[in-house]
Amino acid sequence: MSQSTVREIVSNNAVLHLPDGQSIELPVITGSENEKAVDISKLRAQTGHITLDPGYGNTGSCQSGITFLNGEKGILRYRGIPIEQLAAKASFVEVCYLLIYGKLPNQQELTAFEDNLNHHALLHEDMKTFFSTFSGQAHPMAILSAMVASLSGYYSEAADGVGGFDMNAARLISKIRTLAAFSYKKSIGQPFIYPDDSLSYCGNFMRMMFAVPARDYEPDPVVEEALNLLLILHADHEQNCSTATVRTVASSHASLYASIAAGILALWGPLHGGANQKVIEMLETIRKDGGDVSKFVKMAKDKNSSFRLMGFGHRVYKNFDPRATVIKGACDKVLSKMGIEDPILDLAKQLEAAALEDDYFVERKLYPNVDFYSGIIYRAIGIPVNMFTVMFALGRLPGWIGQWKELMDDPTHRITRPRQVYTGNTEVNYVPLADRK
Ligand code: CMC
Repeated sequence: MSQSTVREIVSNNAVLHLPDGQSIELPVITGSENEKAVDISKLRAQTGHITLDPGYGNTGSCQSGITFLNGEKGILRYRGIPIEQLAAKASFVEVCYLLIYGKLPNQQELTAFEDNLNHHALLHEDMKTFFSTFSGQAHPMAILSAMVASLSGYYSEAADGVGGFDMNAARLISKIRTLAAFSYKKSIGQPFIYPDDSLSYCGNFMRMMFAVPARDYEPDPVVEEALNLLLILHADHEQNCSTATVRTVASSHASLYASIAAGILALWGPLHGGANQKVIEMLETIRKDGGDVSKFVKMAKDKNSSFRLMGFGHRVYKNFDPRATVIKGACDKVLSKMGIEDPILDLAKQLEAAALEDDYFVERKLYPNVDFYSGIIYRAIGIPVNMFTVMFALGRLPGWIGQWKELMDDPTHRITRPRQVYTGNTEVNYVPLADRK
């Protein structure tokens, strides 16, 4: 069944009996992969009750035709196409088009899209001064989110909401590379390198990151290929924390730039995209500590310790993360092609093996996720550790944009505004300052 037809399919009703004697029939919605959802949209109006689902583990916030994910079976598909096929055959630019416009581009569409990206790769020259106003300690994610929000001050179509969408989407996809590379160049005190239209999306980014004016720079095809793969694997993941944030912000009719800037900030957290930086820091800590992985597995199980195995576990995947499987294979390939031996890779494999044999991890279905091995590839291709989450943002951007568009194109969407169960004081009187204890 094709995408976006789920709304019409109402198969049967569920009946909810409440303790106060009320009962209500609730429609059951079936998605195109036979996923079932109880539609509670009339629950409060008809019964005065709401549902409570902290962390939204059981709550569908929207109907979407972009990404299908089955965590039990380890399936991930963008617009129906398995991630393994896209990882093996597609370019990241094709995947951007696929996620945003719903189909793979034909040659003409791809060329036009690529031309559009090239056309928008430069930053407004005035924006360059922004980079010098950040302290040397500023995390690149702080800079990236601020710069993306600032784009709306330079490209006025952003304020028009859906109008100018194609141009704003292309601007974002193209300029985010330039922003990321310029913030890196600033942090190491090197001059900015301007984009070069003759290069691929990834080659252009690598050049802006690593070229210097004094020398010619040829992007390494191994590195380009690895980067292309990583960006594709990160490109969308249905209603994860940052995507849900983008949709939430967009639901107030904030601009594309504002919504994406919010998504970048949500991604930054160590339980989400920030995990890739934390994985490498954890592996370095283990190495410096003598490399005894069992000690850290034990610590991760200890409920008195706040330590978690970073890069392990996932809200949705309860079997394996198909992205992690692809990345693990790529990791070996990239490192051997580049002639790099990284002791951290051996440690990662030992840690994975130790955890996967451990009852605690087995019982809780905790497996390596996308962030477990991605950092090892980023390290091998020269990306500094504090830029790892920026790389995740580059990859996730087309997903955020596609989800923003899907929400805006849906005439039935409403502002996101959850309810709560209030647990504070019942009514109390104001106490004058002099009478307070
Ligand atoms: N190490 C040790 N124990 C863990 C871990 C971990 N990495 N992850 C979950 N657990 C335990 C957790 O303590 C809980 O145990 P118990 O049932 O005894 O209380 C159980 O497993 C369920 O965990 P949860 O926190 O309720 O699961 P969640 O779905 O709310 O959280 C998660 C998912 C990804 C935030 C969590 O697994 C985690 O913190 N992982 C480490 C951070 C990480 O790698 N994040 C990247 C996620 S993938 C990239 C992305 O798309 O964001």
